[in-house]
Amino acid sequence: MSRLVKDDIKSISGEIEAYDLRFKEQTGYFMDEVARKTVHLSDVPLPYRTAVISVTSGLGVISGFAEAVCAILRHCSADAFVTKASDVDGIYEGVMKGADILFLADDARFVALSVSARALAENGECTGVGFAEALACCMGCRREKVLVLGASEVGGAAAAYLAGRGIPVDVFDTNPNVLRGMKIPGGKITKLDAAPRLREYRYLYDATTAADLITAGDVRGDTVIAAPGMPRGITEEACRIATVIHNPLELGVIAMYYKCASIMESRKGECDC
Ligand SMILES: NC(=O)c1ccc[n+]([C@@H]2O[C@H](COP(=O)([O-])OP(=O)(O)OC[C@H]3O[C@@H](n4cnc5c(N)ncnc54)[C@H](O)[C@@H]3O)[C@@H](O)[C@H]2O)c1
Repeated sequence: MSRLVKDDIKSISGEIEAYDLRFKEQTGYFMDEVARKTVHLSDVPLPYRTAVISVTSGLGVISGFAEAVCAILRHCSADAFVTKASDVDGIYEGVMKGADILFLADDARFVALSVSARALAENGECTGVGFAEALACCMGCRREKVLVLGASEVGGAAAAYLAGRGIPVDVFDTNPNVLRGMKIPGGKITKLDAAPRLREYRYLYDATTAADLITAGDVRGDTVIAAPGMPRGITEEACRIATVIHNPLELGVIAMYYKCASIMESRKGECDC
């Protein structure tokens, strides 16, 4: 995972409405709808009170990160706020202010927790499936092969999700150990042991940390690339030719929120007596 920097996220709050319209032009759905598809939540639930808590350990707080996460959550109609306090005191403040979902990140993990439902959503996995669903939306009922580049947390989750949807997947990682360690939970996933020719695929998924990995010569006018990788792995020129679905935080955060919300909705009415 690459650590986000201030520049990656500074325009999120001001541009999320416009970005979501562009996302809908690309996929046919708003981010909120794509995220809810990943957890089979057909209706928008009532807003859950959600606290975003800064964590100061390790390399410390990324300036503007908590505010960007909060803006994304409000955009998908969560009742979200950033706590004044950080760390454990921030958790205390969030819960005391009625939050049921807590968002918090350190250098290694970014999670959302539901206090009442004991639900956990992890950013890597949720980003992986969120972008996979966005790509599946672009594919409609076509079942062409998808090439997933990068087989770690994001790429692994994406490959498993696509295969689970009946979409055949080729996966390549420059680190053979990562590829070997990748679990294949059924479905059609082929691990490639040599670098593939990208141009042979219409649908690509970039889950690497490599910049400018996909160039103009690798894409066609009908190529669609789901690209959560940071920095963006597609050159400017290739972006002008292909459809590139890329955002540094938005879809993953919305998918985390709805993962928690779906578990909370499913447990509503459960009796713990
Ligand atoms: N957009 C978002 O919301 C969001 C959220 C989470 C993670 N990310 C980004 O998604 C990417 C994947 O996340 P992760 O946690 O799985 O990262 P990771 O660092 O664990 O894995 C990246 C994988 O890519 C492989 N790789 C690097 N260069 C490659 C290349 N040229 N070809 C094929 N494989 C290559 C590496 O060997 C590694 O296994 C990272 O860039 C991360 O920062 C984005």
